[in-house]
Amino acid sequence: MGLRTILIAGNWKMNLGHDESASLVKAIAAEIKDIDDVDVLVAPPFTSLAVVRDVLDGSGILLAAQNMHSESKGAYTGEISAQMLLESGCSHVILGHSERRSLFHEKDADINLKVNTAVESGLIPIVCIGETLEEREQDRTFQVIKGQLEGSLNCFMDQKSMPESTILAYEPVWAIGTGKTASPEQAQEVHEFIRGWIKNNFGEQTSEAVRILYGGSVKPDNARDLMSRKDIDGALVGGASLKADLFVPIIKFKEK
Ligand code: PGA
Repeated sequence: MGLRTILIAGNWKMNLGHDESASLVKAIAAEIKDIDDVDVLVAPPFTSLAVVRDVLDGSGILLAAQNMHSESKGAYTGEISAQMLLESGCSHVILGHSERRSLFHEKDADINLKVNTAVESGLIPIVCIGETLEEREQDRTFQVIKGQLEGSLNCFMDQKSMPESTILAYEPVWAIGTGKTASPEQAQEVHEFIRGWIKNNFGEQTSEAVRILYGGSVKPDNARDLMSRKDIDGALVGGASLKADLFVPIIKFKEK
């Protein structure tokens, strides 16, 4: 484990109403009071953001949204802007999650616009990338990851600089919600590739600062092993982030 602080992030997806959201964060906050060497973040649905913000107040737990629109306002029925997320207490926003890419047809170019708007607005993006099973089996993992990095982070390439606070999440699509985790070796290999790509494009200092999370069936049982790898700086947790008795042990992975 290096200089980067581990970040354990919970992506609640389309789960939990107001009361359930408030109870969950209260339970998490109570259990992790003594933890000061791991950053913790939750990403509730839009409708629970303000409720969770009020419960989180003073706990140190960070708040993220799961998506946003790239435009700042206007006739975009059903969409949410960066400014609205800031007003709801978010410091971070997850962008380009594989479910957004596959179910809602988001392309790298769309994600790039969102990343640009997020950073300009003062939100820290958590940009997700990852290959499908078919792509892995065709030995195209690195090619796909490189394409997603170049496409989704194109705004940084144009500016020739990437904010060090940017967070990337490597989430192999075949490991999301399937119970199949990438082995720590498989994940480390891709994380190392991503860090190398950042170094080539933005220099060593940025590549050493940017956190790269692993996501895909992270559970209390596999968290420690994954987090022990050199280039894995935390986890983006879906299913196991919905229950305090699963999410808290992931945050406390060092104790296992
Ligand atoms: P999972 O989801 O932990 O349920 O596999 C991860 C994610 O989609 O971010």
